Amino acid sequence: MFQYPLPVPPIAQPDFEETVDGRSVQFYSATVEPFTAQVYPNLGPAHLTGYNGIAPGPTYYIKKGTETIIRYLNRGSTSASVHLHGSYTHSVWDGFASDQMQVGQWKDYYYPNSESARSMWYHDHAEGHTASDAYYGQAGVYIIYDPEEDALGLPTGNYDVPLTITDKVYQSNGDLASPNSDTMNFFGDVIQVNEQPWPYLSVEPRKYRFRLFDMSLSRPYDLYFADPSGNWIPFQVIASDSGLFGGPVSTSDVTISMGERYEVVIDFADYAGKNITLGNNMQNGQVTEYDNTDQVMMFVVGNDVSDSSNNGAVPSTLNGNIQWPAQRTTVDHTFNFQMGGDSMWTINGVSFNDVANRILARPPQGTVELWEIHHTGGPAVHNVHLHLVNLQVISRTGGSRGVLPYEAAGLKDVVLIEPGETVQVLAYYGPWNGVYMFHCHNLIHEDDTMMAAFNTTLLSE
Ligand code: C2O
Ligand code: CU
Repeated sequence: MFQYPLPVPPIAQPDFEETVDGRSVQFYSATVEPFTAQVYPNLGPAHLTGYNGIAPGPTYYIKKGTETIIRYLNRGSTSASVHLHGSYTHSVWDGFASDQMQVGQWKDYYYPNSESARSMWYHDHAEGHTASDAYYGQAGVYIIYDPEEDALGLPTGNYDVPLTITDKVYQSNGDLASPNSDTMNFFGDVIQVNEQPWPYLSVEPRKYRFRLFDMSLSRPYDLYFADPSGNWIPFQVIASDSGLFGGPVSTSDVTISMGERYEVVIDFADYAGKNITLGNNMQNGQVTEYDNTDQVMMFVVGNDVSDSSNNGAVPSTLNGNIQWPAQRTTVDHTFNFQMGGDSMWTINGVSFNDVANRILARPPQGTVELWEIHHTGGPAVHNVHLHLVNLQVISRTGGSRGVLPYEAAGLKDVVLIEPGETVQVLAYYGPWNGVYMFHCHNLIHEDDTMMAAFNTTLLSE
């Protein structure tokens, strides 16, 4: 473990940029492309399929208000649909599971990027094989930045690093084992960051901003930074799925589930010459841990700071303008995330295959709704992800934990639900109308039909 450096994906470069009616629009081209990676130097290669033939795919780093059009050409071996997770994309470009590019086809996806600064990610969403497509490499980071965030003086450039966490199983020949052997969950015994098993990152004794992404299929983590004696180092959580918090939340660990993002600032100033580990303390009866799944990566702290700019205290106000939904106490919809027959997972007994019945909510465009979501079955964690909207997590009841401080500090788009728990989420349904998916982001469950849709409609029913 910790033998190889952390790879950092390249920044995507536009083919060209145009001003259209005073709006700036960037055009990118991308492929879904098979490639091989020598993950284990003495074994055979791993066969992957990733965006532009790399995994994670290139990191999009987009200024708020710059619109993007990305042409995806599918050169893979199965159909593909690309979803930008966290974006309020119009529904035709949102990567609906049945809206697939067959092999050899391409589609232009348009993103308005008018949301505030945030860390999003893009991944395959093709019906029935999202889990394996993401597992074999179709996932990447997509960041929006804005001047308000830039003015905060947070660590930037080489001091702002995306860490995408996944778990995998390898065969003895060095290639990946399929994630589809079980319909309950997929839990790998190898933890990867940016697709490298247990990497290390050389850092300087100063502050860093890490953007944490749980891109695993079924595995949530409880992440902490430990010094060489095993003591946990306090850090600050500054942002989650929908961007910056009102102010930083101090903690010594952060629970992150599939699809979630948390951004943290940690100061290595006291640890020059030492090794700090990123560990995983998940204690959850639904999650299978293996010998080394309690370790994620290592930070090798050097002795010198080459750039001391943007190394001050995290401001106590990060975002004074969070767009909290108008408060509402009436529950508009109740959804049971449960097991169906034949190893299927359903929402209120409906599976995504049930095309005639799978639109389970019709929130009028521009209104706020309160949804109550129950975990009513199955030896697995679920988590609920709604496309289009930003969620305020109102409550979590029925289990041992309530809403965690860093879940309450900002808006989100995905929320973990453990067996027996009920979560209430409030959201503004807009700005667009259209049909969008919501689903369990345990991708094994998603592929086994734990997915439905809502229609943000012009007409109330
Ligand atoms: Cu991260 Cu519907 O997806
Ligand atoms: Cu689930």
